[in-house]
Amino acid sequence: MLQRIRGFFGSSLESTQDQSLDHNAVVPYHVAVVMDGNGRWAKKRGLPRTAGHRAGMKVVKNIAIAADEIGIKVLTMYAFSTENWKRPRQEVDFLMRLPEEFLRLELHDLMKHNVQMRFMGALDRLPAYTQETVREAIEQTRSNTGIILNFALNYGGRREITDAIRKLAEDVKEGILLPEEITEESIRSYLLTHDLPDPDLLIRTSGEIRISNFLLWQLAYSELWFTDVYWPDFTREHFYEAIRSFQLRGRRFGGLK
Ligand code: IPE
Ligand code: IPE
Ligand code: MG
Repeated sequence: MLQRIRGFFGSSLESTQDQSLDHNAVVPYHVAVVMDGNGRWAKKRGLPRTAGHRAGMKVVKNIAIAADEIGIKVLTMYAFSTENWKRPRQEVDFLMRLPEEFLRLELHDLMKHNVQMRFMGALDRLPAYTQETVREAIEQTRSNTGIILNFALNYGGRREITDAIRKLAEDVKEGILLPEEITEESIRSYLLTHDLPDPDLLIRTSGEIRISNFLLWQLAYSELWFTDVYWPDFTREHFYEAIRSFQLRGRRFGGLK
């Protein structure tokens, strides 16, 4: 059973720049990242928090390429939570403009690397200009067949589950779904990640050891890896350190080895 799960969720390492990765070990299929510590990175340098967000934005492409190079298929990046609206107006405005800057700076390289961009969250609640960038990013990279770079934007795990339950209840009311057909699999089909396997590995930077409303359903059996490094300082070496740690874990999914 475990072998079968591994066969589906992982692919074998073929080539990598990083010699310290085990070439025969399983590579995670889906890695999720809580990109945290931008504000503290900036504060340490006497810079405004927005400078930290811009520096953090510049790390994303490098990690996506590093992930692609070792055979990871999906990278889900927590970019803005449903709780982040609580921040000062000026910071929120800056964050809502960042996708546009990201696309302008990085689209060329992302295309070269065959990256497919996706977005998940309450996208219809974003400002019109952010929605426009989201549409453009999806449109431009739709046919790319490389790594999926999936941004969680205005995303909250509880919101996702709430929306899923509402839609499911409507379908039951309409007779499209019977109550006895409500299973883990059918619930999964209502989630924003319905076409993606659950993350094998969750990485969080900046020293915080919490989930912060990220992928509550999907992280049920993910391996967790935390580092004190602030997101703008996070490099491909740190990333491969997380992958190495993952490769040493014994995943049992409640069973026995
Ligand atoms: C993560 O960095 C980026 C977002 C949440 C948008 P933070 O802005 O949370 O940085 P810290 O945690 O305050 O250092
Ligand atoms: C989580 O980071 C959200 C993102 C990285 C987008 P936060 O900085 O918002 O989380 P808390 O407030 O420390 O839990
Ligand atoms: Mg934070």
